[in-house]
Amino acid sequence: MTDVWSERAEAFGTSATHREGPDLDLLVEWCEPGEGVQALDVATGGGHVARRLREAGAEVVSVDPAPGMQPTVVAPAEQLPFADGTFDVVACRIAPHHFTDVRAAVREMARVSRGRVVVEDNVFMGDDVEQAEKLRDATHVRCYSEDEWRGFFVDAGLHVVDERTFERRVEVEPWLARVETPEDDAARIRELLAEHLEDGRVTLRSIVLKGTK
Ligand SMILES: C[S@@+](CC[C@H](N)C(=O)[O-])C[C@H]1O[C@@H](n2cnc3c(N)ncnc32)[C@H](O)[C@@H]1O
Repeated sequence: MTDVWSERAEAFGTSATHREGPDLDLLVEWCEPGEGVQALDVATGGGHVARRLREAGAEVVSVDPAPGMQPTVVAPAEQLPFADGTFDVVACRIAPHHFTDVRAAVREMARVSRGRVVVEDNVFMGDDVEQAEKLRDATHVRCYSEDEWRGFFVDAGLHVVDERTFERRVEVEPWLARVETPEDDAARIRELLAEHLEDGRVTLRSIVLKGTK
């Protein structure tokens, strides 16, 4: 999986969906960045969360298992190579649906944080959407419901102090091109997503949760 993601580094670094949006603005606000704040960006991908936290004055370490994403540290979310309570805030955006063990990952984020954990991920929207996501990208594991997300936080010893859902209207063709989907698969994906498609855009829902220890 790591090599696949390294090859995608440029596409995710320039992706409009990842680079900006009200969901990213809220996630950054809930991280409470500022001078002297030590932050960890887990599954940094194109580095958009890390960049925004740095711009707000935080000291940021980024982590990702794909070396091509050029994180500060190469490691999976399920095994973070940091001591307990190293960071004021741990953030992770639009990535846990790729993790092999999401519960272990949230437990690790809680362990290395001494304060806050802020996570955003796409929400489960039904089996057809899951099938489309897996066909588009073999690294897709699963999206989870809002209830499942609250459960992951509670199981990791976090109090959910805030949460918000977003509808993200994603342009389908660049979304397919970003991972070089073959045309036969692309046709089936458009069929599976039909009820969520309008004007060439698919509406995906995401949840942002803020937890404290
Ligand atoms: C969609 S990108 C992340 C987007 C990025 N956080 C942003 O806000 O733009 C998904 C990332 O998850 C990483 N990833 C995949 N499996 C992982 C795992 N088990 N632990 C941590 N990161 C993982 C990939 O290497 C990739 O960089």
